[in-house]
Amino acid sequence: MSKVKLIDHPLIQHKLTLIRDKNTGPKEFRELVDEVATLMAYEVTRDLPLEEVEIETPIQKGKFKMIAGKKLGVVPILRAGLGMLDGVLKLIPTAKVGHVGLYRDPETLEPVEYYCKLPTDVAERDLIVVDPMLATGGSAAAGIRFIKERNPRSIKLMCLIAAPEGIERVQQEHPDVDIFTAAIDEGLNDHAYIVPGLGDAGDRLYGTK
Ligand code: PRP
Ligand code: URA
Repeated sequence: MSKVKLIDHPLIQHKLTLIRDKNTGPKEFRELVDEVATLMAYEVTRDLPLEEVEIETPIQKGKFKMIAGKKLGVVPILRAGLGMLDGVLKLIPTAKVGHVGLYRDPETLEPVEYYCKLPTDVAERDLIVVDPMLATGGSAAAGIRFIKERNPRSIKLMCLIAAPEGIERVQQEHPDVDIFTAAIDEGLNDHAYIVPGLGDAGDRLYGTK
């Protein structure tokens, strides 16, 4: 069974409260999502392997640790996942980027795929899939399914707010995918929005609606 890691650092909780606030407009919302994504990426990359390299300080030679040539990829689920991309890339600027386009049909609540472009060497990469909202889990589960068709080395899922229903669905369909979230909320309302959540992440990022 995959692990669920709640990243509840005080800075993240503070910024997430501002993100949830309905009076926060798109500019500030985007900036805050970007900042939280950077802070979360710090934790998501905690298990990166290190290797010793020899360098010379101004004083003497020595062996020191650096990240061991691990190939990473970041895959935002469009469109709201794009809001977290730059924040993650600030910490891992050499990661390659893939995109998966999905939207949730408002009637059926089922995810509809419209785009999938991943790095050609995805089979050698460990991927971080980013999407701010894990509600029913349908979008994340489908996105991960499409990505798995290209055989990446591993996948982690990073979101801002998760509903217990979404966590359960991803864990059931993808027991190999660890989930990193800044909050686990109460559940879903009749329209499958997360309660209390933050509303529609894509609309709040981009000022649509
Ligand atoms: C949102 C969000 C997730 C999905 C979560 O995207 O960014 O992808 O809903 O819901 P689920 O867990 O029930 O599938 P949305 O479908 O609104 O598309 P958008 O990002 O293009 O606005
Ligand atoms: N998608 C969103 O943007 N917000 C929710 O609460 C659920 C799905």
